[in-house]
Amino acid sequence: MKQASKLGLSALAMGLILASGSALAYEKGNIVVRAGLAMVDPQDDSTELTLNGASLDGTSVTVDDDTQLGLTLTYMVTDKVGVSLLGATPFKHTVTAKGAPVDNLKTAEVKHLPPTITVQYFPMDAQSAFQPYVGIGLNYTTFFQEELTSDFKDALGDGNIKLDDSFGYALQVGADYKLSNNVVLNASIWTIDIDTTATIDLESGSQIKTDVDIDPMVYMVGVGYQF
Ligand code: NI
Repeated sequence: MKQASKLGLSALAMGLILASGSALAYEKGNIVVRAGLAMVDPQDDSTELTLNGASLDGTSVTVDDDTQLGLTLTYMVTDKVGVSLLGATPFKHTVTAKGAPVDNLKTAEVKHLPPTITVQYFPMDAQSAFQPYVGIGLNYTTFFQEELTSDFKDALGDGNIKLDDSFGYALQVGADYKLSNNVVLNASIWTIDIDTTATIDLESGSQIKTDVDIDPMVYMVGVGYQF
């Protein structure tokens, strides 16, 4: 994630925190739909790549960030507790191999969907237009349309790449600022545990493997509507 956009998100979050006004809080039975830009910013870490089971010293992979349309839907179970689902259009990431003999080799493009469900707590009282929340929950990430790049194929020959699906925890902090009884501004941050194993089966018969902890921060800013 670029520093400037991080600053922009921080400024918006601060603006939400400093703003004040009067509007009604959420109530049991409310549904809040929020839409905006969602960025998945991997804080990735990988094991060394293996070739046919043998470690390739000093190698690793990295995963770049991507921004897509994010959607969250929250159902208020009580006045202060909501259950929220995060959805998005598919994220697309480039996986790059690091270390000799293939330093900085763009290896694959992968898409994923990271549906995440969290239970959220809204601590503020009914008069507050500012409604921060914290959430804890579960993420399921499924990878699809994994494709080796032409750079990779030129270097090592054709093959197939597959990334395993991932189950993990998700933690969230966010805030709504209610512009009216129905319209909110929203900013939210998740940290999500996404761990996968990437396997490349080359046509030569060789197999390359690595375990990757993607463990992204997810940043979303948008607007919402309360029903
Ligand atoms: Ni992890």
